[in-house]
Parts: sequence; C-alpha cells; structure tokens
Amino acid sequence: PKESAARPVVQPATPKAVPADKQVTILYASQTGNAQKLAEKFGEQLRQSGLQVTVSSMSDFKTNALKKVQYLLIVASTHGDGEPPDNAITFHSFLHSKRAPKLEHVKYAVLALGDSSYELFCQTGKDFDLQLEKLGAKRLVDRVDCDLDYAEPAQKWFEAVKDKLLGESASFTASEQEAAATTLQEVKEYSRKNPFQAEIIEKINLNGRGSSKETIHLELSLENSGITYEPGDCLAIIPVNNKNLVHSLISALGFEPSAQVVVEDKTITLEEALLNVLEITLLTRPLMRKIAEFTENEKLHALLKDSDALKQFIEGRDLLDVAERFGPFKWDEQTFVNCLRKMPARQYSISSSLLANPEEAHLTVGVVRYEVDGRERLGVCSTYIADQLEVGDHVQVYVHKNPNFKLPADDTPIIMIGPGTGVAPFRAFMQEREERGATGENWLFFGEQHFMTDFLYQKEWLSWLKSGVLTKMDVAFSRDQEEKVYVQHKMLKKSKEFYEWLEKGAVVYVCGDKEMAKDVQATILRIIQQEGGKTEEEAKLYLEEMRKQKRYQRDVY
Ligand code: 2AM
Repeated sequence: PKESAARPVVQPATPKAVPADKQVTILYASQTGNAQKLAEKFGEQLRQSGLQVTVSSMSDFKTNALKKVQYLLIVASTHGDGEPPDNAITFHSFLHSKRAPKLEHVKYAVLALGDSSYELFCQTGKDFDLQLEKLGAKRLVDRVDCDLDYAEPAQKWFEAVKDKLLGESASFTASEQEAAATTLQEVKEYSRKNPFQAEIIEKINLNGRGSSKETIHLELSLENSGITYEPGDCLAIIPVNNKNLVHSLISALGFEPSAQVVVEDKTITLEEALLNVLEITLLTRPLMRKIAEFTENEKLHALLKDSDALKQFIEGRDLLDVAERFGPFKWDEQTFVNCLRKMPARQYSISSSLLANPEEAHLTVGVVRYEVDGRERLGVCSTYIADQLEVGDHVQVYVHKNPNFKLPADDTPIIMIGPGTGVAPFRAFMQEREERGATGENWLFFGEQHFMTDFLYQKEWLSWLKSGVLTKMDVAFSRDQEEKVYVQHKMLKKSKEFYEWLEKGAVVYVCGDKEMAKDVQATILRIIQQEGGKTEEEAKLYLEEMRKQKRYQRDVY
C-alpha cells in the first residue's frame, strides 16, 4: 500500500498471514544512539507485524551468525570524517577483509545517517551497502542517506522495507490502522518538534580575564517538565540565528524581511524563517549545487568543478558570503528558502547530575568566534547563549540520551579523559558518584591552555580530591611552558599505573574534540603495548575487547 506521511507508525498486533519463518536481523552502527533508537523502533514494529526479529549492536554480533542470516537490515551512522562509529569498527573491517564470507543467501537494506556538512556524507552506510552487494547479497530496497533531520526519510525507508518483507499480507484497512493508533498512542516526549522552554537560572563565564577562551557555564531549570536524564546524556538546544546576520543576508539578496514564505507547512515571514527555522551559517556541497541552479555566475560554476577549492571555500563561510559573491540569482523568497535545510539542534553534554541538582541541567559551552575575510563569524548556538541570553530568559531544549556514555557499577574504577569542554560529562559523573556514595575509584585527566585562566571548575575538582570522591587528577596546561603539554603526555607519564587500572577493570572515558581523541587512543594503545608487553596487534585486540565490554567509551565531536 502507498502511505501518506501522516500515516500512524504503529501497527496492529495481529497481522495476517505473515510467513513465520522470515527471520530479520537488524544491526546498528551507532555513536550517539540515533541509529540504535531507530533500529530498536523498527525491530519492535516488525515484531508487531509477526516477524521474528533480532536487533543487535554491530559490536555484539557474532560474525559466524552471518551464515544463518536471511534478511539483514543495517542502520548505520557515520562518525567524524567518514569513519564508522566505535561499535561498528570491527564488523566494518571484517566485512571488508579477506575473511568475509559470501552472502548470496542474504537479502538486505541499508539506512544511512549522516550530516551533509561533512565531505564524506553517510560514508559508513555507503560502505556497508556496496560491500554487501560485492559479497553477493541482494538489495531489498535502495539505500536512503539521511541528513540531520532524519525522522521522515528514515520512516519512508522503513515502510518500503516493511512492504517488501510483508508483501501483500501487510495491507491493513484504514480503520484497522486507526484502531491500532488509538490503543498504542506513544507517550509524548520533548523533542525537536516539541521542545521544552527551559529558564536560564545561572550563566557564568568560567574563564578568567585575559584568557583566549570563553566557556559558559549555563544552568537551566527543568521545573515542571518531568524531564529526566542520566550522566553522559546530552541536552539539545534549538538556537536562534544572529539577527544582524539574518538582516545582512536578506538585504544582500534584495529581499524584504516581511515577505511571506511557507516553511514546514506554515506561512511565516522570511525574517522569522531565517531566524528560527533554517540553517544559514553552514555551507554544504549539496547546498552549493542547489544554489548554482539559480545563478549563471561563472565563479560559482568554476568552484563547483574544483573539489579542493570548493572545500576550502565552504569551510568557515556562510550564506552571506554566497549571496555577496555569486549573484545575481534567479529566485524569489520561496525558492530561496526551499534550498535551505532545517536548523539542526546543537547537543551539549550535560555537566550536572539530577541527584545533586534536582530539576536542573548544567551545560559547559565553548563559545566559537573567528574571523574569515575580515568579517567576524559566530558559532550559532554558542554565541546565541553567550550574547543573546540572560538569566531569566528561556531556551528551547530536549534531552538526547547517550546509551554509549554511561557510568558503570558503583564499585568499578573509572578513568576520565576530558580536556577543554570535554570535561563536562565528568563533572556530572562526579556529582552522581558523590551522591550515590559510589566506592569505585575515579581518575581525571584534564587539559587547557593556562592554569590561571582556564582551569574549568577548578574549585570543584580540588574539593572532590580533598574529600576523596576524586582519587587522582592529572592536568596538562598546554601553554604555560615552551613546549605543548597535553593530556596524553600526562597519561604516558603515568603509564604503569594507567595500565594497572585497565587490568583491574577500569572503564576509560574520552570526551572532547576528535583530534585529541585520536591522539589519546594512540597513547592508550602505546601504554597497553609498553606496560603489557604486547605487540601492536595484541594491543589493538585488548582495546577492542575493552570496547566490547563497554570499558572504552567515547563522546567525540
Ligand atoms: P592548545 O590549544 O595549546 O593546542 C583544550 O582545548 C586543550 O586541549 C588545550 O590545552 C589544547 O592545547 C589541547 N589540545 C589541542 N590539541 C590537542 C590534541 N591533539 N591532543 C590533546 N590535547 C590537545
């Protein structure tokens, strides 16, 4: 059956004539939990349709079980620069290795999640899709590549897959669907579409005078929202674009702020659309190609033919640059806004624990400002928080759970590596462990530029050290001396003890930017080799085993 977008996602519990021998395996490659959530939701819906379904993380999936797989659905997000998420690394490289089996008995479909602002958009999903085909598996439906706003295309992909799996037996009458929808109404949660208006109750710049950094500690009230979260979870904020930028853009395009446009089925002014709904600060390749359809400007068309130059141009630039350089454009307000994607919410690791701060969420926000072509550029959400909001104002938020960054049992030791704003979730961890009276040891590695101005939450760490909640702390202030000193240098200095902690079952957490995370991982491998007397290959297996046991968890951006 052909469905409209408004079709309820729930299915009747008693399906008709579905062959019970159809076995479906759903594997997810997920870093922050989006792909996992989708996989679990799809699994549940197929089960309700009477199919036998297994949903599994790629890291938990035994590759020899591939022999028995009939229908394989893969939901794969892409991490960083086209890399597989942590839980998919082993399976991904297995499928691409000589050990990969022939899969002619398998029918499969891939749903790819990604972010089109990255050059290698949805690369992991593409890899799986191509490689499964190469191994002889048959594609059930075409792969769908989803951008940040994935809910609708993901659901469409799933409906197509389900139709294939259930065949004609899945055609329910409209009244059956309605009945099912009313009995199985989902509980309404706060989300991108339905955010909570949280009041700002505290806002402090954590950096001292003279620092080159600006890090905002923000406290939000969740009073009367019923919102809960656990340490390691993120809070998504829906930002508002900068007014000056919006006005400059509208005038550079020769439009009127009060022009009416339709966005997401609502008629609003162009100004409102650009302030609240659409992304204007990030240029992606697909966006540049779309814009080129509306101009004959040769500079733009030349740029699109030169991949390196294009990459260089879009980095750090925004729509105003495009409007100023590549006109004249043959579009009206509506065609212009139709080119733009929805403003993505920004996710921040929550730096508080509900046990210590009931009905509050704290964030630790690094403010982004830089200059390109003599114009100051502002990080959308961070400067919205830093420049536009004050205590008493409200922001639109919702919780984004992160199942892959969670505290272990109370008596398990943990090592936390979080330079810069990467320290945020570890403040939540310590608050939580203090409140629970957890007995596990805690070791923090923190790094910033200068001790005097950039030691985020210094007083709190010192008092936790004093009370014994924090067992050890090593800090690396990179610019307080001639040579750079980073967290990984401190880890290496303590390599013997670091390895002892690993051997006694410690969980290692890394949070922060991806370059740091890469270097830290290389250092962990080096420590395992050096202190464990292992070869490079053995060290990799050791870390892989830690990953499988959820003893190596990362939150990397
Ligand atoms: P830098 O700015 O002096 O280079 C938080 O941003 C801290 O992380 C800063 O001290 C920063 O040092 C440091 N840092 C930068 N790159 C890093 C890397 N690859 N590994 C670890 N720390 C890094």
